Amino acid sequence: MNQKKVRKIGVLTSGGDAPGMNAAIRAVVRTCVYNDITPYGIREGYDGLINNDIYKMDASSVKHIIHQGGTILRSARSKAFMTDEGREKAWKNVEEIDFDGLVVIGGDGTFKGAMAFGARYNFPIVGIPGTIDNDIFGTDQTVGFDTATNTVVEAVDKIRDTATSHSRLFFIEVMGRDAGFIALNSGIAAGAEEILIPEKNRNINHLFESLQQTSKRNKSSRLVIVAEGDKNGNVYDLERQVQERFGDRYETKVTILGHIQRGGRPTCADRVLASRLGVNAVEALMEGQHYVMVGTRNKQIVYTNFEQATKQNPEMDEKLLQVAHIVSS
Ligand code: F6P
Repeated sequence: MNQKKVRKIGVLTSGGDAPGMNAAIRAVVRTCVYNDITPYGIREGYDGLINNDIYKMDASSVKHIIHQGGTILRSARSKAFMTDEGREKAWKNVEEIDFDGLVVIGGDGTFKGAMAFGARYNFPIVGIPGTIDNDIFGTDQTVGFDTATNTVVEAVDKIRDTATSHSRLFFIEVMGRDAGFIALNSGIAAGAEEILIPEKNRNINHLFESLQQTSKRNKSSRLVIVAEGDKNGNVYDLERQVQERFGDRYETKVTILGHIQRGGRPTCADRVLASRLGVNAVEALMEGQHYVMVGTRNKQIVYTNFEQATKQNPEMDEKLLQVAHIVSS
């Protein structure tokens, strides 16, 4: 493995922000300082690399940020970095500063960008999975997922209070893009009566049957958690279809939790995960690793190449699906 001395590392956050990104930035910067490497912050993701919005950091640049949501480096979904011209501009800045490597914190799109850049310029990049969606292959959990699911559970608990007072049926849409991890985990934790996720691809009749059955049980409230990527479509359409069928039995309401899921103080679990991954990302660059994402598998640190991390989807735990089914019945 290449043992060339690493002297300068850039760090950026890209894509949707996630609670715990600051803890990851902090860990990257502090690990650099610990190893006599100069850390550089790159603002607004790959756009900052293109526009030379880059600054030297030190240990104090990341003080008092471990508990803050969002990202001090800000984030972007860079369109310019998808073009050859954009990447060429970014490369000029990388060469000028004379970086020895980059740590990119983000999701699928972030790693695809890193792959394209790495393939063209043969430049060392290591990734940290940071997204609330938990939809990245090669890690048990992504940074931000634990906080987001806790945010959802807290909100749904509150909705349960009012749903029960009025004997209402609520449809609650949660984020996750094409994945149902947020919906499944928060749905179980909040005691939802039904959880609709894209991985299960159940049609509307399943929901009708389930509502038919529970209507006999005289429940005082019913909560249906709907992943935004669920194939049954828009949550308002779902509500309308249920109204048409059961309007005489259920009074329905819709809540879309939206971006509240992306903010807030990261949980202990996210801070620890982000710190571990941040330290290991810098160490991976020092060991000469390229184009890998650092993650955890059964509590151990593992590396997955970007190609695998972006091409494969993490599997939904069948047992957990069964748990959801049993405990909501
Ligand atoms: O990937 C994180 C995420 O919050 C998804 O769950 C959601 O689909 C998307 O980003 C929303 O993106 P934006 O904030 O750009 O609308």
